[in-house]
Amino acid sequence: MDTMEINKGIAAILVAGIAFFVTGMISDGLVRTHPLEHSAIKIEGAATTAPAAAPEAAKEELAPIAPLLAAADPAAGELTAKKVCAACHTFIEGGKAGVGPNLYGVVGGPVRHMAGFKYSDAMQKHDEPWSFEALNVWLKKPAAYAPGTRMAFAGINSDKQRADVIVYLRSLAKEPVALPK
Ligand code: HEC
Repeated sequence: MDTMEINKGIAAILVAGIAFFVTGMISDGLVRTHPLEHSAIKIEGAATTAPAAAPEAAKEELAPIAPLLAAADPAAGELTAKKVCAACHTFIEGGKAGVGPNLYGVVGGPVRHMAGFKYSDAMQKHDEPWSFEALNVWLKKPAAYAPGTRMAFAGINSDKQRADVIVYLRSLAKEPVALPK
């Protein structure tokens, strides 16, 4: 090996060392000068310790429901419901349970409104009736409203579509509950 080779070797080691050192400094600087404002990873299940807080937390991101319901279209909601909810739910009075409970009269009704249906523990943690607001939060993301729910449905992301479905559900009653002002 001549000196040139040895020099190259030493240079390579030095460069590697410097690179290592500089990378360390940069990442150190990044971590120190830019602490994350929010946790980078949202831990959905974390709400299980405080079930009552989950709907509140989810609700904050939602637009007010009253104007959405006022503009909603029950016929469009029925189409959506028949397409995406009917796999698990029936809608007529006295309809049988499927994977999920019958939904006749659910709006304004108590949570776990179908007698005899075996609801999950996640649903047992809820006491509040199915108000328009509660349904809005639930249907946006069931797993956020009731972590651990057996309703294996991701949710309806569109505010308009969700409102349409909710006014359709409202129509499934002898005397539909008054829309919120
Ligand atoms: C894959 C099956 C499935 C689909 C699809 C589904 N659900 Fe459900 N749903 C369930 C199950 C199961 C429950 C009971 C949840 C539990 O006990 O955790 C439920 C519960 C509910 C409840 C609460 C009823 C009560 O008595 O408290 C409402 C309201 C509801 N679903 C509405 C809907 C709507 C509206 C859609 C369509 C947009 C829908 N679901 C789609 C399975 C489903």
